Amino acid sequence: MNFIVQPSTVVDATVTVPGDKSVSHRALMLGGIAEGKSTISGFLAGEDCLATMAAMSAMGVEVEQSTPTDVVINGVGLRGLVEPSQALDLGNSGTAMRLMAGLLSGQSFTSVMVGDESLTSRPMRRVISPLAAMGAEIDSNEGCPPLTIRGGSQLRGIDYTLPVASAQVKSAVLLAGLYADGITTVKEPAVTRDHTERMLSTMGVEVDRVDRRISIRGDQRLSSTNIQVPADLSSASFIMLATILSKRSDVLIEAVGVNPTRTGVIDILQAMGADISLQNARLYGEEPVADIRVRSSTLHGGAVDSGLVSLAIDEFPVLFVAAAAASGKTEFSGIGELRVKESDRIAAMASGLRNLGIRVDETEDGATVHGGQFRGGEVQSHGDHRVAMSLAVAATVADDPVTVHDVAAVNTSFPGFTECLGKLGVDIQ
Ligand code: S3P
Repeated sequence: MNFIVQPSTVVDATVTVPGDKSVSHRALMLGGIAEGKSTISGFLAGEDCLATMAAMSAMGVEVEQSTPTDVVINGVGLRGLVEPSQALDLGNSGTAMRLMAGLLSGQSFTSVMVGDESLTSRPMRRVISPLAAMGAEIDSNEGCPPLTIRGGSQLRGIDYTLPVASAQVKSAVLLAGLYADGITTVKEPAVTRDHTERMLSTMGVEVDRVDRRISIRGDQRLSSTNIQVPADLSSASFIMLATILSKRSDVLIEAVGVNPTRTGVIDILQAMGADISLQNARLYGEEPVADIRVRSSTLHGGAVDSGLVSLAIDEFPVLFVAAAAASGKTEFSGIGELRVKESDRIAAMASGLRNLGIRVDETEDGATVHGGQFRGGEVQSHGDHRVAMSLAVAATVADDPVTVHDVAAVNTSFPGFTECLGKLGVDIQ
């Protein structure tokens, strides 16, 4: 499947984007081990979260989806999961596999997790090491999936400093901590998304947070709850940039999650000159939400604050496009983690932008993007949803049509992406 995008002008509109992927995964996992019935509204019915849903069902959690975005989960309690009859297939989703590794380490049964070609090449030692230190027994293929988690070990709490800033690893250790003796503490080198901590606390679990140290006591019960999932800021960022780059456009994106551990993309775009404002700030449970108003703006380059990297970790592909459309050069540093995402996102974006006539100089953990004008042509997504959508946004302001190849993975996080851009007047097939 390909996108063919014609140069387009974004029309003034109010749009919504699908639910937050990180929050939707956590709602299924935590709702599944809570006591009793939880409801989820605004659920992201993308392939990644559906893989988590299937995995929870395979372990005995009854899940009803009355509409694509409305889900009821009948939680089985902390000790109620049952052995799945076959391997759990987590598809393309690193979040599903890494968080689930923590959850499964605490079970009395053995389980196997597999994934697609991209997930099978992603590093899992970052979760295996701390979970093994807690007493879990996990086999892998040289640190990559498939993972076999041998159940039955009584876990013990640890005090663990994360070598990389990763919300997935933090969450895996905290989930295992629910099953461990004593206290489990995770220290992060930089603040990462804290949806797990917020949702656990909504469900009545005591989570202590002091600076970047998060602690949890084992054997706490989770109470069922009603979870309203905010729209995903990571998905909204494609709409934001398409609006910024278009001429005289003014778009409102409704009810987007603006948890401060996620809003680095807004800070970085504003520092580049973007006109973005938050309106109607409110809370969905413990998650801050706002409507985001974006207007056409002229962007300029500069050095991107590396202190914002962990707060914008999924938005660098679209920020590379912003940099390519900005005046002057933009320097990204401290973004080495991008090389182990769904694709090597530094290399994938550099090659896509070069095909569209933009100069990009890569380093091991960064890049300098030289602002210019996109020409038309053919680009590859490398099977990566965010690379595909970022290059489609670049195409809206190219001189000629652009074909983005291999875009099926967009359904992992943003089902309805083409319809949403279509509503904004973008000609995308
Ligand atoms: C996620 C954490 C991030 C992010 C991913 C979702 C999460 O990964 O890239 O898309 O839901 O915890 P890392 O924790 O590996 O940086």
